[in-house]
Amino acid sequence: MPNKPRVYVTRRLPHEALSVLSGKTDTTLWEGELPPAWEEIIRSVSGCQGLLSLLTDVIDERVMDAAPGLRIISNMAVGYNNIDVPAATKRGIMVTNTPGVLTETTADLTFALLLATARRLTEASEFLRQGRWKTWSPMALTGLDVYGATLGIIGFGRIGQAVARRASGFNMRVLYTDRRERPEATEIGAQFVSLDGLLRASDIVSLHVPLTEETWGLIGQQQLGLMKTEAILINTARGEVVDQDALMDALRHRRIGGAGLDVMVPEPLPPDHPLCDLDNAVLLPHIGSASVATRTKMAVIAARNLLAGVSGESPPNLVNPEALGGKPEPGN
Ligand code: DGY
Repeated sequence: MPNKPRVYVTRRLPHEALSVLSGKTDTTLWEGELPPAWEEIIRSVSGCQGLLSLLTDVIDERVMDAAPGLRIISNMAVGYNNIDVPAATKRGIMVTNTPGVLTETTADLTFALLLATARRLTEASEFLRQGRWKTWSPMALTGLDVYGATLGIIGFGRIGQAVARRASGFNMRVLYTDRRERPEATEIGAQFVSLDGLLRASDIVSLHVPLTEETWGLIGQQQLGLMKTEAILINTARGEVVDQDALMDALRHRRIGGAGLDVMVPEPLPPDHPLCDLDNAVLLPHIGSASVATRTKMAVIAARNLLAGVSGESPPNLVNPEALGGKPEPGN
């Protein structure tokens, strides 16, 4: 009876996911509420063939070199900017993610954040709770109309398209920009424009790009300067896509109307961070995909990818197919 493949899982997952591994792998589970320290991952991954990571875990060359037998890094997220993919590919280590299952949940949250920011919901709620509600007043807490507004979507992949579909219920004009025109846009009724054109024309700008070298700091002072003064920026992608200092400056000086951020730098954001002082920023703790059903599906997919990878199969959600063939099959 060959030994079961050893895997390290960096957080307690729902039982539906752990049961995928149970009996088939020799699993070490990090039980902490907070992520394991990087040094802890290095220590624990040694001797493992599989690693199941979260987006909070930095998986770099040092981690990979600590486990020369590592075959797969299965990330429980659609984004995988926490993993040095070229380094993994060079070592013949497969990297997988969990696309698809979180699309609609993240698009729901994007729309909730968009509405909350445009209509100043958190500010209004605080206003009430702090006893500042003295009367109905003609222009108090007035915001931006979402119905009929122009929505600019930056990054027209799965989530960007799902947001665009929701926009049709609000009779919005939808513009998008991406590296290329997308055929799906015709059916959705979205119009391809340049980034600058989108920023100038949109009342609401929503970010849906992965974090790459190309998108790092994509929205900076210059881009914010192109936006309308009443426009709002929504980010449910990655904090680093926006130059946060430039954004805070624009919000502070009311050069744009507001921002709704589910992602930011750093995460977690300390409550004494200057971003928290801005009443025109709606801030959420990275909950885009946080529904019970979706997080459970993501965990199960991550576990299945992991199991496939350590069993010598090609996992369904491989992001670096070039890694295949880089290492001998198990048993060889
Ligand atoms: C992801 O999957 O990349 C999201 O940021 C969390 O669901």
